[in-house]
Amino acid sequence: MKKTISFLLVLGMLLSLPACGGTPAGQSSSAPPVSSRVTEDLPAVSSEETQPEQSQSVDTPAGSNILIAYFTWADNTVVEDPGSVDADATTSASVLVPGNAAKLAAWIQQEVGGDLHSIVVEEPYSSDYDECLDRAADEKADNARPALASHVDNMEDYDIVFLGFPNWWYTLPMPVLTFVEEYDWSGKTVIPFVTHGTGGLSSTIQDLTAALPEDVTILEPIGVYRPDVDDSQPAVQEWIENLDIDVS
Ligand SMILES: Cc1cc2nc3c(=O)[nH]c(=O)nc-3n(C[C@H](O)[C@H](O)[C@H](O)COP(=O)(O)O)c2cc1C
Repeated sequence: MKKTISFLLVLGMLLSLPACGGTPAGQSSSAPPVSSRVTEDLPAVSSEETQPEQSQSVDTPAGSNILIAYFTWADNTVVEDPGSVDADATTSASVLVPGNAAKLAAWIQQEVGGDLHSIVVEEPYSSDYDECLDRAADEKADNARPALASHVDNMEDYDIVFLGFPNWWYTLPMPVLTFVEEYDWSGKTVIPFVTHGTGGLSSTIQDLTAALPEDVTILEPIGVYRPDVDDSQPAVQEWIENLDIDVS
């Protein structure tokens, strides 16, 4: 039975985006299911341009029934001049690895174990923010399904899938929909984790829910405002403690 439960928490809702004046959409442990949370007109982020190389999926010991899959810009771009990256630009979307969603994924793995999987497109996005924005906007407008270069060979082995991504244009990055549509999710439990700017979760969870079969159980997501990501491990721990999952 598909069910979207209340949000547990969202960190930091202070405005820090340079070109965006939206009010952050916050969620708390008592918040209702995600709906109507689009508050930001522009997905404004800084235009830092770089990054080192892409990270790869890392497997934990065999036998786990938990997958932690995530999409992050930093794993989906190529930076010509890594030396130009402003590593201190914590309030901005970054092409530096690990990306924000990857940081959350690593902390989730510390708590529950499981296997990490980075969702990577065949054609990397530009490391230029404006160009990345434009392509993402086009893909959303076209309801595109960008081809993926990374795949999960044994999805049938996983009962619980943590699925993480940034808010892109108030919804999921389109490659996450490619990922979702690639597998049989029937009977699985999906636990979203989202990192975002001032737009909060926007329509991410509704759109993810719509893309999954009816018999998927969707547990309460966590949303983390990007300037707060680096300090969010305790919040991630608390969120997981309150999830109705057996990770023993
Ligand atoms: C193409 C693009 C579109 C974005 N759109 C939004 C948006 O609509 N709302 C929002 O709150 N943040 C938006 N952001 C900001 C990201 O959600 C935020 O920076 C996130 O922490 C990035 O996570 P990542 O490092 O895992 O990619 C956007 C960023 C990019 C690159």
